[in-house]
Parts: sequence; structure tokens; C-alpha cells
Amino acid sequence: MKPIYLDYNATTPIDPEVAEAMRPYLFEHFGNPSSSHWYGIQTKKAVDEARRQVADLLHCNPEEVVFTSGGSESNNQVLKGVFFNRQVPKAHIITTQVEHPAIVEPCRFLERLGAKITWLPVDSSGRVNANDLGNSITTDTVLISIMHANNETGTLQPIEECAQVAREHGLPFHTDAAQSVGKVPTRVDELGVDFLSIAGHKLYAPKGIGALYIREGRQLEPLIHGAGHEQGRRAGTESALLTVALGEACALAGDLSGMDNVRILRDRLWRTLKDCCGDRVVLNGHPDQRLPNTLNVSFLDHQGPELLAALPELAVSTGSACHADRVEISPVLKAMGVSPEAGAGAVRFSLGRATTLQEVEIAIEHLAQFLAA
Ligand SMILES: Cc1ncc(COP(=O)(O)O)c(C=O)c1O
Repeated sequence: MKPIYLDYNATTPIDPEVAEAMRPYLFEHFGNPSSSHWYGIQTKKAVDEARRQVADLLHCNPEEVVFTSGGSESNNQVLKGVFFNRQVPKAHIITTQVEHPAIVEPCRFLERLGAKITWLPVDSSGRVNANDLGNSITTDTVLISIMHANNETGTLQPIEECAQVAREHGLPFHTDAAQSVGKVPTRVDELGVDFLSIAGHKLYAPKGIGALYIREGRQLEPLIHGAGHEQGRRAGTESALLTVALGEACALAGDLSGMDNVRILRDRLWRTLKDCCGDRVVLNGHPDQRLPNTLNVSFLDHQGPELLAALPELAVSTGSACHADRVEISPVLKAMGVSPEAGAGAVRFSLGRATTLQEVEIAIEHLAQFLAA
């Protein structure tokens, strides 16, 4: 028996409809989309259609979508692209203390190149405050980047409010939506963002494909220079195979109705754990401003890595890492003020479209047995 997969925030399986849409581009249609003959025309049409599907999901123009290799590249492109395109000698970037390493590390890199980074604090639910953002803006600020949903806790940031603050100061605003696309609405005009990152493998497309929304008129220095692919914004022959996959995944992601069931299953898991452990289990993250699939809890009498090792029947993640003689808690939980004791016991359950009630009940049984022992 394979373990029960409750780690959809780490990655998702390829949706069968996505795989089906990819099939012709594995075998028959191999042309270079830049070629002007029949073979190229077939793949060019496919890439254009995929771009339209991504744009439909985000409610933007297809010309505002650039295909990338995934969430990390999209994030790197925005941060470095703004930095290298800036018109002023200094560069101040504002981000948060709970970002994914795909934001944290490029920021640290830019710090080494002279950028100043402000890391906004978060409250105990993991949310930033739009007033703090406003107060941290300086005349040198060139970009604000705040994630839409946190990968560990699922907490949603007040993006609309923060983007409004950015607009009032005439500053570009980026959101890393790698975790939110396909789980909650991500229309760019409702969010008010100028840049938005997508990671295909978090929404049932394969690994190695993503996209970046770039609002019309916003300029970025490309990360990858070369031939004029993607309107000169990202060099490299487009993969019809992968772009078609992302397009189909975005078309499927437009229907969020399946998330109601995911939320019900997630809440059932939480209630059962609460009934079982009382105040020895605590929720990490916002009680309702949170992705419908994510449940991050701390078992106060246990350590996450110990629970994972004892329960090979479950595929879940911890919020801490074991080092030789200690358990180190995640920077996200630390920023939320979670105590070392609680942080060490953190476990992330993330459900997906395919998660069934039966799987959740089996997972509950295994957990109950472990917690009773
Ligand atoms: C919030 C967030 N941003 C970015 C990434 C990186 O995306 P990718 O794996 O496509 O590079 C991830 C992946 O875990 C993520 O959760």
C-alpha cells in the first residue's frame, strides 16, 4: 500500500486531462514554435492557446503572460528584473519574513549587490499589516513583493490592501501566487498586482513550467538573454508540451467548486485532532484567511520529524528540521512567534483535488493510534 498523500503544497500529480492534452506534443507535434513552416505553426498555435488559457484564469491579456520554468524563476525574474532595470542608483525592496526561499534567496543575493531589503514582520497568524508596509516605503523603494498564500501555513496575505498602498506610492507590486492559483481566486485586477508568479506543479501540471504575469507597461530586465522568444522577455525555445500542460491546468483551475469539498475534509481532520488532543494541538496560521486545503498544526507533546518517522503510512511535511542534536523550527513559524516547543511539533497536512473522505479517515486512524501510544 502506498502512503496516503497529504502533501499537495509540495507538489501535485499531473491531472489526467493535462496529460491527455500533452500527448500530441510528445509525439506528433515537435516543431519549433518560431519556425514558419507547418511544424512550427502547429506548436505556435498550441503555445498561443495555452497563453490565452493562463490569461483567462488571471483575467489579463495573453501578451501579459510570460512562460517560465516555474515559481522560482518567475520570482527571480521579478526581483532581479526590477533591480537591473532601475533608473536610480539605490534600490530598496520590501518583502516579508514569511516568504518562500524563492524570494528570500534572490533578495539576499541582491543585498550582496547593494540592494536594501526590508523584511516586514507578521502577526501570530502570519499576516503582514498594510500600515507597516506604508511606513517602510522610502524614496529608494523600487519594488514590493508579498506572497499571496504561505506554503507552510496557507495563510493569505491582505494583498488587495497592500497593493493599494503600493499604487498610492506609484510602486510596482509583485505577489508570489505559487500556492494560491487554483485554490482561491487570483484575478490580477481584483488583487491589484503588477506581477504574479505561477508554478505549474502546484496546480496539476508537470514540474518545469510556470508563468509570470507582467502588467502592460511594466518593464523588467530579462533574466535569460538570447533570441527574442516571449517578446524578448525570456529567451529559450518554448516547450509546446509544457505550455499546453500549464494552459490546460489553468483551464481546470478556473473551476474552484472542488475546493469546498477539500475544505470540508481539511476541517474534519482538524476537528478530529482537536477532539483527540485538546489544547495539546494548536493551529498554525490564520483560522479563516487561509487556503482551503492547508492544515498546519503543532503537536505540543511530539516532534514533527518523530511523527513522520513513526507514520510511514502518511506523506506529510514538518515545520522543522532535525539537526544532529536539536530540532530547528522553520523561519515562517519563527516569524509568527511560534515557540520552539510548538514549532518542533509542527506538521503540515495539505489536501488536494483527489483527496477522499476515506483517505482522511485512514489518516485520522493512524494519527489517533500514534497519539494514543
Ligand atoms: C510559495 C512558493 N513560491 C515559490 C515556489 C517555487 O516554485 P517552483 O518549485 O515551481 O520553482 C514554491 C514551491 O514550493 C512555493 O511554495
